[in-house]
Amino acid sequence: IQVVVAIDGPSGSGKSTVSKEIARRLNLGYLDTGAMYRAVTWWAMHEGTDFAEPSAVVEAARNAPVEISTDPDHQFVRVGGTDVTDAIRTPEVTSQVSSVATVPAAREVLVQRQRGIIADSGRRIVAEGRDITTVVAPDAEARILLVASEQARMNRRGAQLGGSQDAEALRQQVVGRDAKDSTVVNFSTAADGVVTLDNSELTLEQSVTAVMDLVLR
Ligand code: CDP
Repeated sequence: IQVVVAIDGPSGSGKSTVSKEIARRLNLGYLDTGAMYRAVTWWAMHEGTDFAEPSAVVEAARNAPVEISTDPDHQFVRVGGTDVTDAIRTPEVTSQVSSVATVPAAREVLVQRQRGIIADSGRRIVAEGRDITTVVAPDAEARILLVASEQARMNRRGAQLGGSQDAEALRQQVVGRDAKDSTVVNFSTAADGVVTLDNSELTLEQSVTAVMDLVLR
């Protein structure tokens, strides 16, 4: 089993930060699957894809030449040689990404690619996203659903974005996006064998410790 730790959760639950830190401490590889949905979205926008046309979205998912690092200490995403590590985090991409994530056939393309990247890395991996515990790696050794209250998630995302967003825009990027995504993927309740960890009241360090305990037990 190559995926050692599978972590899912909604936006702002802290899963990227926690997953990366777990990978560092255990000397594992790390795969941010959300970055892949974002990279496909960036590419589709760049290509002028009609997001209302599911077949066009699937084609973009198939053709996007996405390259992603599995090194937790050196994360980057490239699309066809262009470094998009920062470009995939803009509000424009964030507000469009659900148009890719809610097309089931596009998800299938990405899931296959994720499995390929994990296999090719030759490493044991921490993978995180929305469907890792259920679809990408249901056989992972530790499977965790990281959740937090709406308020905690909005506060964290607001801080990440430098406090520049007004409350309604922020709510749209966090709660609104989760609502769209959940029409296709269930990441609000844990599947059988998946442990739920609510970190609303935990600091980052406490969240890492709590996840480490689950992984090592
Ligand atoms: O960082 P944040 O949790 O806000 O989002 P992300 O992990 O970067 O994921 C961005 C988007 O990709 C999500 O809103 C989903 O639409 C999609 N996604 C997905 O559908 N399945 C995954 N395994 C990972 C991300």
